Amino acid sequence: MQILGIDVGGTGIKGAPVDIDTGELLAERQRIPTPDPAKPKAVGKVVAEIAQHFAWNNPIGIGFPAVIRGGVAFTAANIHPKWIETNADALFAELTRCPVKVINDADAAGLAEVTFGAGRGYKGTILMVTIGTGLGTALFVDGKLYPNTELGHIELDGGDAEWMASDAARQRENLSWKKWAKRFDRYLGALERLLWPDLIILGGGVSKESENFLPLLTVKSKIVTATLLNQAGIVGAALSAQHLVK
Ligand code: BGC
Repeated sequence: MQILGIDVGGTGIKGAPVDIDTGELLAERQRIPTPDPAKPKAVGKVVAEIAQHFAWNNPIGIGFPAVIRGGVAFTAANIHPKWIETNADALFAELTRCPVKVINDADAAGLAEVTFGAGRGYKGTILMVTIGTGLGTALFVDGKLYPNTELGHIELDGGDAEWMASDAARQRENLSWKKWAKRFDRYLGALERLLWPDLIILGGGVSKESENFLPLLTVKSKIVTATLLNQAGIVGAALSAQHLVK
């Protein structure tokens, strides 16, 4: 079964048709820079351009960096505030003329990792943390997603955890890996004390450089890095739209 998976990010919007039975991309990923300002219509046009590139007229799954409930965006931590209360499902469906399912981007990445990647075959509680401009989280119990956990926004050192411990924070403050790892470890420790996951999967761009910080983490839960890397968002978005296939 083929579904077009699209990952809307802060700098790029990426998409490819996905074989959702194997998790493989069926064509080369198409990437278009995220428009600035990333208002709903502008982002919608880019998504439609990606669908057109693949001459797509089947279901589309889209990972989006916000709380998505019933297709509607409810937050906008790192995106344009105009998205708040926009019906993203309806907007993208109108512009692409395809059935669309929008899901939180971290939830999408988690779905892909639990189905085809680092979390495959695990029972129990899995917490996926995506480390990028934001801190995204996805929580699974026995393979089932508890959607829209926004645990990147818990309090850490008196501030928003995302502001203190994301990869953007590391770059903004020019932190050494050691300094950033200490902070990120405090963040994971806080999550561990609340959730006691059996497995933590770390994803996002920096997971490729995990040798710089993984050995410095002290939490007790088993920690692994994501295996689908920058494809996870696309694959998981496609997986989330399975129910739209007739
Ligand atoms: C948003 C989440 C998103 C995460 C990763 C956070 O700022 O609140 O919804 O999953 O960034 O993009």
